Amino acid sequence: MCGIFAYLNYCTPKKRSEILEFLVNGLKRLEYRGYDSAGVAVDSADAKNISVIKKTGKVAILEEAIKNRGADLAMDDISETHCGIAHTRWATHGVPSELNSHPHRSDESNNFVVVHNGIITNYKEVKVFLEKKGHCFESETDTEIIAKLVYHFYQKHPNCSFRELVECVVQQLEGAFALCFKSKFFPGECVATRRGSPLLVGIKSKNIPVTDHIPILYGKEEQPKTVLSEADPNHSEHRPHGRSEIPTLPRTGSTAEFAPEDKQCEYFFASDASAIIEHTNRVIYFEDDDVAAIKNGSLSIHRIRRGGDDPHTREVTTVKMELQQIMKGNYDYFMQKEIFEQPESVINTMRGRVNFESGKVTLGGITEFVPEIKRCRRLMLIGCGTSYHSAIATRQLLEELTELPVMVELASDFLDRTTPVFRDDVCFFISQSGETADTLMALRYCKQRGALIVGITNTVGSSICRESHCGVHINAGPEIGVASTKAYTSQFISLVMFALVMSEDRISQRQRRKEIIDGLGKLQDQIRKVLKLDQEVKALAESLYQKRSLLMMGRGFNFATCLEGALKVKELTYMHSEGIMAGELKHGPLALIDETMPVLFIVMKDPVYIKCMNALQQVISRNGKPIIICEENDKETLSLGYKCLEVPKTVDCLQGILTVIPMQLLSFHIAVKKGCNVDCPRNLAKSVTVE
Ligand code: F6R
Repeated sequence: MCGIFAYLNYCTPKKRSEILEFLVNGLKRLEYRGYDSAGVAVDSADAKNISVIKKTGKVAILEEAIKNRGADLAMDDISETHCGIAHTRWATHGVPSELNSHPHRSDESNNFVVVHNGIITNYKEVKVFLEKKGHCFESETDTEIIAKLVYHFYQKHPNCSFRELVECVVQQLEGAFALCFKSKFFPGECVATRRGSPLLVGIKSKNIPVTDHIPILYGKEEQPKTVLSEADPNHSEHRPHGRSEIPTLPRTGSTAEFAPEDKQCEYFFASDASAIIEHTNRVIYFEDDDVAAIKNGSLSIHRIRRGGDDPHTREVTTVKMELQQIMKGNYDYFMQKEIFEQPESVINTMRGRVNFESGKVTLGGITEFVPEIKRCRRLMLIGCGTSYHSAIATRQLLEELTELPVMVELASDFLDRTTPVFRDDVCFFISQSGETADTLMALRYCKQRGALIVGITNTVGSSICRESHCGVHINAGPEIGVASTKAYTSQFISLVMFALVMSEDRISQRQRRKEIIDGLGKLQDQIRKVLKLDQEVKALAESLYQKRSLLMMGRGFNFATCLEGALKVKELTYMHSEGIMAGELKHGPLALIDETMPVLFIVMKDPVYIKCMNALQQVISRNGKPIIICEENDKETLSLGYKCLEVPKTVDCLQGILTVIPMQLLSFHIAVKKGCNVDCPRNLAKSVTVE
């Protein structure tokens, strides 16, 4: 949550208005990460001070404020070299307000400003220390301590470089952070770092080689740990300062830093690649504790300590994302576009992996680990929200085809229980963003205990992706709408493909595998057919949007659809909604049923058909008026529905892909009808990088 963005042009003349436009557009692309407030910091018109502009609400409000302040921002002035930082916030500490918005500042003179994504867990202690030193705080945030702390170190060590000051700061911080700093004392410089929250830098220069690795510069192994305590003789204030204390940096390769020959270059720090793709596709993903500094147009990456398995370089990678993928195109909302992209996104998930002729399924990212996975004690599928639902949706098939015990876990609960994990467990971490803090923490927990870690992610270069031993990219393409849609169906298919890989040599399952692979082959057309229900679903939404509650019932392979449908309705429409296992109806939820309670029932002709019909009859006999999602031409079921939506039949274990789409459309249309913000539901953010 929270999006950070920074732009630095070196010897590349840019109008102030252009720089601000870059910052605002970068924030717009990151807005899905949080939209409680937004802010920017740029050099003041005379370039001697820093101007900070912050606004509560969405980036558009900040954009308007910038336009209105155009005169004092000297929009037509040209800067040869300039650094601007920007932030869009999802509030964690302190209500959404201008004071709590980022950038935060060190003091009234704005000597240092910082933007932060994450949570500093020890901020209270640091704040007490800084208050004793005379610093006055103006916000309720954890972030403000960072701005004050860097200034504190600057006052104590005025000869230190900007990067060294930031390194002193991060040694004091506990929790998760991605940070970008700007300072009046270091014009044209920017320092950025991360631990636990995502951060990358995009490089735009004529001189970047097609592939390159930037060597990491290491500090002294024995860098003294600075401690913020008055009595401690190792207190940071006692650290001898000046250049002599600065570690001499080993230079590997011909350059130790990225420095384009003509020096003309532009850098973009961002929480994710969608924010920079319109400028450049050459990026470096930072690792935890990397400190990146841009000075005199050169980028250097520094680490205080040399990690055991650190590759000692950071690769300049080429992001394969097209700008049009992150634009709305002809749709009014990203979510709508993403729902309608599913005929293509499911194909992209299977492309090059499923051979429909030979029946062979290959997942290149896990191939060499398959023998080890087959020997494991159990499979654990771990995720949050929609990603967790994709695990529920596929558990039954995984149990069937792998004949292994399969545990499905909510990442937060899994950690709360300190669940026993063993070396012979295989743990799957399912995450669209690849950055969800609960899931990432669970991953690290399992990794520490020696389990094999498999990532199922949609975001190349994300933390989960990088920290997994192996994995599957779901290849759904960028998902911008906060409510997950196409990522769910692609996660679903990825897990089905995994089950197929695991059962490749089982003769007894040959027929079952064939029917599933045939089913996968027909999915694209069937999804197109389901999407044609759009107007019918819209009419249904019109009849439901004023209701207080909406129950969704089903069982077996379609139970996950009920959970996912209810989650979509809750998050998008703010209406109460609950996914109910039809088998549980008589154990309590039946008491909710009367003629006024809307109930959506999924009844498919699968092994639980008779049981579903029994539950449906129980609802009808309590005067319930069920809205039924069933197979095309299932006359018996159709005759029982107050309203019905017919979806094409596929193999039982894939049916959930087709039944979830009407739910996505329904939540979307109810949200539009209620005037809710479809792409940015209140209080939510797409990438939840706090626990
Ligand atoms: C709901 C939704 C969330 C996410 C959850 C996990 O529509 O999007 O429930 O599924 O926050 O996010 P990822 O998959 O990025 O780990």
